[in-house]
Amino acid sequence: MRKTLLAGNWKMHKTRAETRAFLTSFFKEKAPFWPSAKEKVDLLLAVPFLSLGDAKELAEAQGARIAAQNVHQEKQGAFTGEISIPMLQEIGINDVLVGHSERRQYFGETNEIAAKKALNALAAGMHPIFCVGETRAEREGNRTEAVLAAQLEPLLKEKADFSDLVIAYEPVWAIGTGLNATKEQAQAAHAFIRGVLRERLGDQADKIRILYGGSVKPDNFDELIGQPDIDGGLVGGASLKPEDFAALLKIAQNAG
Ligand code: PGA
Repeated sequence: MRKTLLAGNWKMHKTRAETRAFLTSFFKEKAPFWPSAKEKVDLLLAVPFLSLGDAKELAEAQGARIAAQNVHQEKQGAFTGEISIPMLQEIGINDVLVGHSERRQYFGETNEIAAKKALNALAAGMHPIFCVGETRAEREGNRTEAVLAAQLEPLLKEKADFSDLVIAYEPVWAIGTGLNATKEQAQAAHAFIRGVLRERLGDQADKIRILYGGSVKPDNFDELIGQPDIDGGLVGGASLKPEDFAALLKIAQNAG
């Protein structure tokens, strides 16, 4: 009942020319099966701001979506270097990553800021992918569930229409490290998140997709995507090569 979502996060990779080369190769050569996969899988790529226009032109013609990797919570103001929700929507971008662990770790984004970004994006009709996840020390200290609950609290305590929300569970210790969570660890965290959503939102919780992220690769995605509460992947490194991303799409199609 929840359609699988495969989302790539390019982070600070690829110029505009590289973006065009990737998407042309992906749809023409590496994933010619995409038209048949569409029915079972939603495909999305979060690209750098300057590549949004090129990516949108090439991906949307194929029925895939393009997301920004961040957005500022205010509509406008003296926030040098930032990009607002109306600026994204003006160029037709309606999907956005929010609260990625790199934003939290390197740019001081708190649970409250991330929640505000997601709430304002939802209110504007955007589809935020809200990222949560514990550090290694938090997992080893048995604090995973408390951390996830605290990350979700400022978002879910507000009255809002959460039907366009996606959650991404990304254990920080698994991002870019080659160490992915086992399918049991990931399913347990996803089931916990689903429980928190259910407490707050009732039956709507069953409609919200929860993606797993953290060293997703073609050789581990199959068993992760097979878990009942894992509805797709948020993929960094393996989304940078068209052949790897196509292999992940094939796995998502077969699982869907
Ligand atoms: P990774 O990144 O797949 O390279 O671990 C995932 C992410 O940060 O979204």
